[in-house]
Amino acid sequence: MSTTFSTPSTLARYSGPAVFFHWAVFLLIATAYAAIELKGFLPKGSASRALSMSVHTWAGALVLVLAVPRLLWRLVRGAPAPEPGPRWMQLLGSAMHFVLYLFIFAQPVLGLLALNADGHLLTVPGLGIELPSLVAQSKDLKEILEDVHGTLGTAFYMVIGLHAIAALFHHYMLGDNTLRRMWR
Ligand code: HEM
Ligand code: HEM
Repeated sequence: MSTTFSTPSTLARYSGPAVFFHWAVFLLIATAYAAIELKGFLPKGSASRALSMSVHTWAGALVLVLAVPRLLWRLVRGAPAPEPGPRWMQLLGSAMHFVLYLFIFAQPVLGLLALNADGHLLTVPGLGIELPSLVAQSKDLKEILEDVHGTLGTAFYMVIGLHAIAALFHHYMLGDNTLRRMWR
């Protein structure tokens, strides 16, 4: 995979903060997916089902919280130049990263809007503070937003999977530095 969609850089590897943001966001997204899948198996109206939903919304919201400083850091610091390889592979990697950046902003925003359109507010766990609603309650809007959020969520199982396979392909088959320089 390559990283060419912003400032060309002479960095040899990703900086500490970039590595932290990448893996923290990965863990939060994995948690959000696991929680929403688990919710489907829990009895309707149960406390465990409500907890699963809460873990989903909060893991997802934290993705957005980290996405902002992550993108700023990326724009200011740039990224290492791609590992040597065919141009098409570097461009594909770059396009993939761009789409993944879009996803970490769009998906939490869509989820939050869907929650608000359904008449619910996001409540800060432990503090009981409710974040204000961004849209008025509307059944039609809720259905559209949940549809788009769900479809994007399903599509990104595949995109994230391809991205991870590409990283492992670079590491094990091409033997280059791509995974190592995003590791620590
Ligand atoms: C939720 C899952 C993930 C998301 C949203 C994500 C997102 C991204 C983004 C946006 C970049 C570009 C970094 C930048 O330029 O700032 C990147 C790079 C990278 N990711 Fe991921 N990633 C995810 C999961 C993974 C996994 C599971 C692996 C490994 C198995 C992985 C390995 C890498 C590597 C090695 C790079 C550096 C690529 C390069 O230097 O060209 N990522 N990722
Ligand atoms: C990157 C973060 C997120 C990912 C990957 C994600 C993914 C998903 C997925 C895969 C579904 C299941 C859709 C379906 O079964 O059709 C879902 C449902 C949902 N998500 Fe998210 N989501 C994220 C963030 C959020 C956030 C931040 C909120 C709200 C604050 C949220 C609210 C919802 C709601 C209300 C549903 C519908 C639940 C239901 O069917 O009862 N999501 N999400």
